[in-house]
Amino acid sequence: MIKLGIIIDIDSPLTFTFKVFDDVDHEVSIGMFVIVEENDSIILARITRMFRRNLLLQDRILSSIEPESIEKLKSYGIDVQYVASNTYCKCVIVGVWNGKKVDVCRRPPKLFSYVSKPSSKLLEEILKPSSSDVLLDIGHLRGYPSIRARIDGNKLVTHHCAILASTGSGKSWLAGVIIEELFTKAKIPIIVFDPHSEYSSMQIPAYRIGIELSSSERILADEISSNVHVYVPGKVDTSAIDEYFEERFYVKRKYVRFGIKPHKLPFNILLKLLDHYYGISETQKRILEEAWFSIRREDIVSIQDLLKQVEEYGKEAAPRGYAGEIALSTLISKLRQLFESRPFFITKFAEHYGSDLIRELDFEEIVNTPGIHVFDLSGLDLIDQQAIITLVLDSIMKLATKRKSMPTFIVIEEAHNFAPSKGDAISLNSILRIAREGRKFGVGLCIISQRPARIHPDVLSQCMTQIFKRMISPIDIKYVRDVTEFTTIEDLWEVRLLNEEDALIVGISTPIPLPIKVRKRYTAHGGITPTIKTRVKLSLKPT
Ligand SMILES: Nc1ncnc2c1ncn2[C@@H]1O[C@H](COP(=O)(O)OP(=O)(O)OP(=O)(O)O)[C@@H](O)[C@H]1O
Ligand SMILES: [Mg+2]
Repeated sequence: MIKLGIIIDIDSPLTFTFKVFDDVDHEVSIGMFVIVEENDSIILARITRMFRRNLLLQDRILSSIEPESIEKLKSYGIDVQYVASNTYCKCVIVGVWNGKKVDVCRRPPKLFSYVSKPSSKLLEEILKPSSSDVLLDIGHLRGYPSIRARIDGNKLVTHHCAILASTGSGKSWLAGVIIEELFTKAKIPIIVFDPHSEYSSMQIPAYRIGIELSSSERILADEISSNVHVYVPGKVDTSAIDEYFEERFYVKRKYVRFGIKPHKLPFNILLKLLDHYYGISETQKRILEEAWFSIRREDIVSIQDLLKQVEEYGKEAAPRGYAGEIALSTLISKLRQLFESRPFFITKFAEHYGSDLIRELDFEEIVNTPGIHVFDLSGLDLIDQQAIITLVLDSIMKLATKRKSMPTFIVIEEAHNFAPSKGDAISLNSILRIAREGRKFGVGLCIISQRPARIHPDVLSQCMTQIFKRMISPIDIKYVRDVTEFTTIEDLWEVRLLNEEDALIVGISTPIPLPIKVRKRYTAHGGITPTIKTRVKLSLKPT
């Protein structure tokens, strides 16, 4: 075990600072594990900050040194500047290793104790997975390529997780890795809400785009990619994305066009959409409510049938006289416009878009089909995206509470848009419900965001595993620290400095905070920032 330095300051029960020995200066880096050996246990800590001091720069000493004397000493072979330079590392204590598990550290180490670099063997021992049967292999421990970084898939799913980082720092890549692992190890349905059409690329095994995979990895890549089911809203023009996909991967994107029958829309979603697009008066709200809960859904095939019934039942609820008539007739025309203009409604029997049949979704089938089910929501307005997410989540929860579904994992990209901390979103309550109750019914959430401070605190605080990639914004860092349970300010210091492949995992899916290098992907990553050329191409396409 390499001795790295000695402790010179204990500034809190959970942090200490050590002075690095000159000859091992190159061995230390931010994020690495260090240990302090005590009589019968080992204190495990991580370096979170590093700083260098030169004693000559202290005012008192500086004023009493002549530059000539420094030069003179140099001529005798003594470089005072070098001798007076010191490197210090601030560490946060992770816990005490008692040979079996990592306990909470109740006594800080002693001043002047040696700080050492742990051997791979010791770290392997500490990180040895317990009996959990679903271990997700998402990379390796940073600085130790031979030690796999494994997290507990059961806890990740049942207790929810959050992937938080600045934009472009590798969130979706990592989400892809987690999805690949969960699918191959747990064989459960994974639902992905994809506002940027990034996850369809999981239909392509990575070796087809030149990524080197071993023969066993190729088998996994084939298995994963052939179980990616993409759903696009019925009447959204996806030709630009389809062409881009085909140019990049030399195969056509496969998807199903899905639609929603308007009469099956829950009242609260209908009301929000109607109010958002056309505004709705209190009278119209009352008429619609009365009518919506009375209509005979079994008799409805087209929107004409539906509107006729709304009119029929609405008449009974509308106030007598001219004002009532006007309220009802404008309500009917607003409903017609809504159903005809939103691209996800099925307006008639066997409706097609081009040659594709628009299908009604069978949620029971989806949540009982192990695979990766990607809802490509690109091309929809935010409120429409929220409406679809609400509809899907509510249907999943309904089935889950009746025990009619397999354990399900739900990935929500750009989560701040769907469960915002401020303002209203149709989807907020559905996400909150899963965050609070999903665990009991086997429904897990993974929220992904580049603006953690904009996510509703009750959603974020329910995510018992947090995965950080590089995050810079002090506002986001402070918010995460305030809202979540497992992070300290020292941990979050480190996340400013993470590279593209780096991540820090904290929370209940891992025995100790894990600084990792994320593994390569088995399927193609779709989140490649388009170059100016591809951007021009995409934007030239009519939408
Ligand atoms: N572990 C990794 N190994 C290699 N390259 C990576 C890794 N993670 C990310 N990248 C690269 O970084 C780019 C950005 O990653 P990604 O699309 O996952 O970022 P993001 O955080 O999801 O971005 P956005 O905020 O725009 O959604 C990718 O296109 C990929 O090239
Ligand atoms: Mg992304």
